[in-house]
Amino acid sequence: MANDSLKKAAKEIVKKGHVVAFTGAGVSQESGIPTFRDPGGLWDRFNPMEFGTTQGIIELANNNPQKLIDFLTDSINSIGNAPPNPAHIAIAELEKLGLLDCVITQNIDNLHQAAGSKHVIEVHGNIYAFRCTQCNETFKFTKDDFIGFLKKAIVELSSGSMERIVNTMPACKCGGKARLDVVLFGEPVHMIPESYMEIEQAKVVLIVGTSGTVYPVSEIPRYAKKSGAVIIDINPRETFYTDIDNYMLKGPAGVVLPELLVQVKAML
Ligand code: APR
Repeated sequence: MANDSLKKAAKEIVKKGHVVAFTGAGVSQESGIPTFRDPGGLWDRFNPMEFGTTQGIIELANNNPQKLIDFLTDSINSIGNAPPNPAHIAIAELEKLGLLDCVITQNIDNLHQAAGSKHVIEVHGNIYAFRCTQCNETFKFTKDDFIGFLKKAIVELSSGSMERIVNTMPACKCGGKARLDVVLFGEPVHMIPESYMEIEQAKVVLIVGTSGTVYPVSEIPRYAKKSGAVIIDINPRETFYTDIDNYMLKGPAGVVLPELLVQVKAML
């Protein structure tokens, strides 16, 4: 039975439209991809300063390749087998109904697109995308090609030869070497102007599965609040957005969002 808060949130969506979903790792948790800061999360098991920075990754490749191999194997196991879950599907459905304009995601797992979302802004990049270090051109691998690339990189990492590891990086049409197009700590995030252009138009912001702890991206929903948007926060626990939430729908996104969608459809 839908609670009062969920029904009111559904009414806001139907009445106002122009929804922007702002998502984090929690929206993919029920796909089997661990979040970062929950107990057992990625940064609980791997040091973000070692595995989330360029410097750290180069040092690992040179001095402790096995740790990097374990991290890459963990990534293949979680992302490689992860399907979009009912939360991603419900968000894509809201877009199909013409109520949601855009998803701004901090995730790199491509699951919003896999669920059918068309307008997705990936502020931290995409795990299957590569960016040329010379001409900045980007190109995408299929999931299978990407898994194949990771497995090859793991073999070369075992060789301990930095040259062979660099040679596993795909070559761009211009001849330059390409690197994974994901944003590491200390690197500039992607698509910030586009994100603010979208969030400025938002009448409702669905914050889904994010702790709201990583600046500057975490400021995006706050900007929408200042422009008068209604904030609906979906998370099993309190977040850093409690001060701006109009609605806090407590629970896993894969349960709450399908329930919210049922209420929305009943009001159309
Ligand atoms: N449904 C909804 N929310 C969930 C679920 C779930 N099933 N499971 C966990 N959560 C919530 C947690 O309560 C937490 O608030 O998801 C959030 C995950 O927070 P983080 O692990 O901090 O992930 P995120 O907010 O996406 O981190 C932002 O930090 O390290 C960087 O680049 C990384 O994009 C990431 C950024």
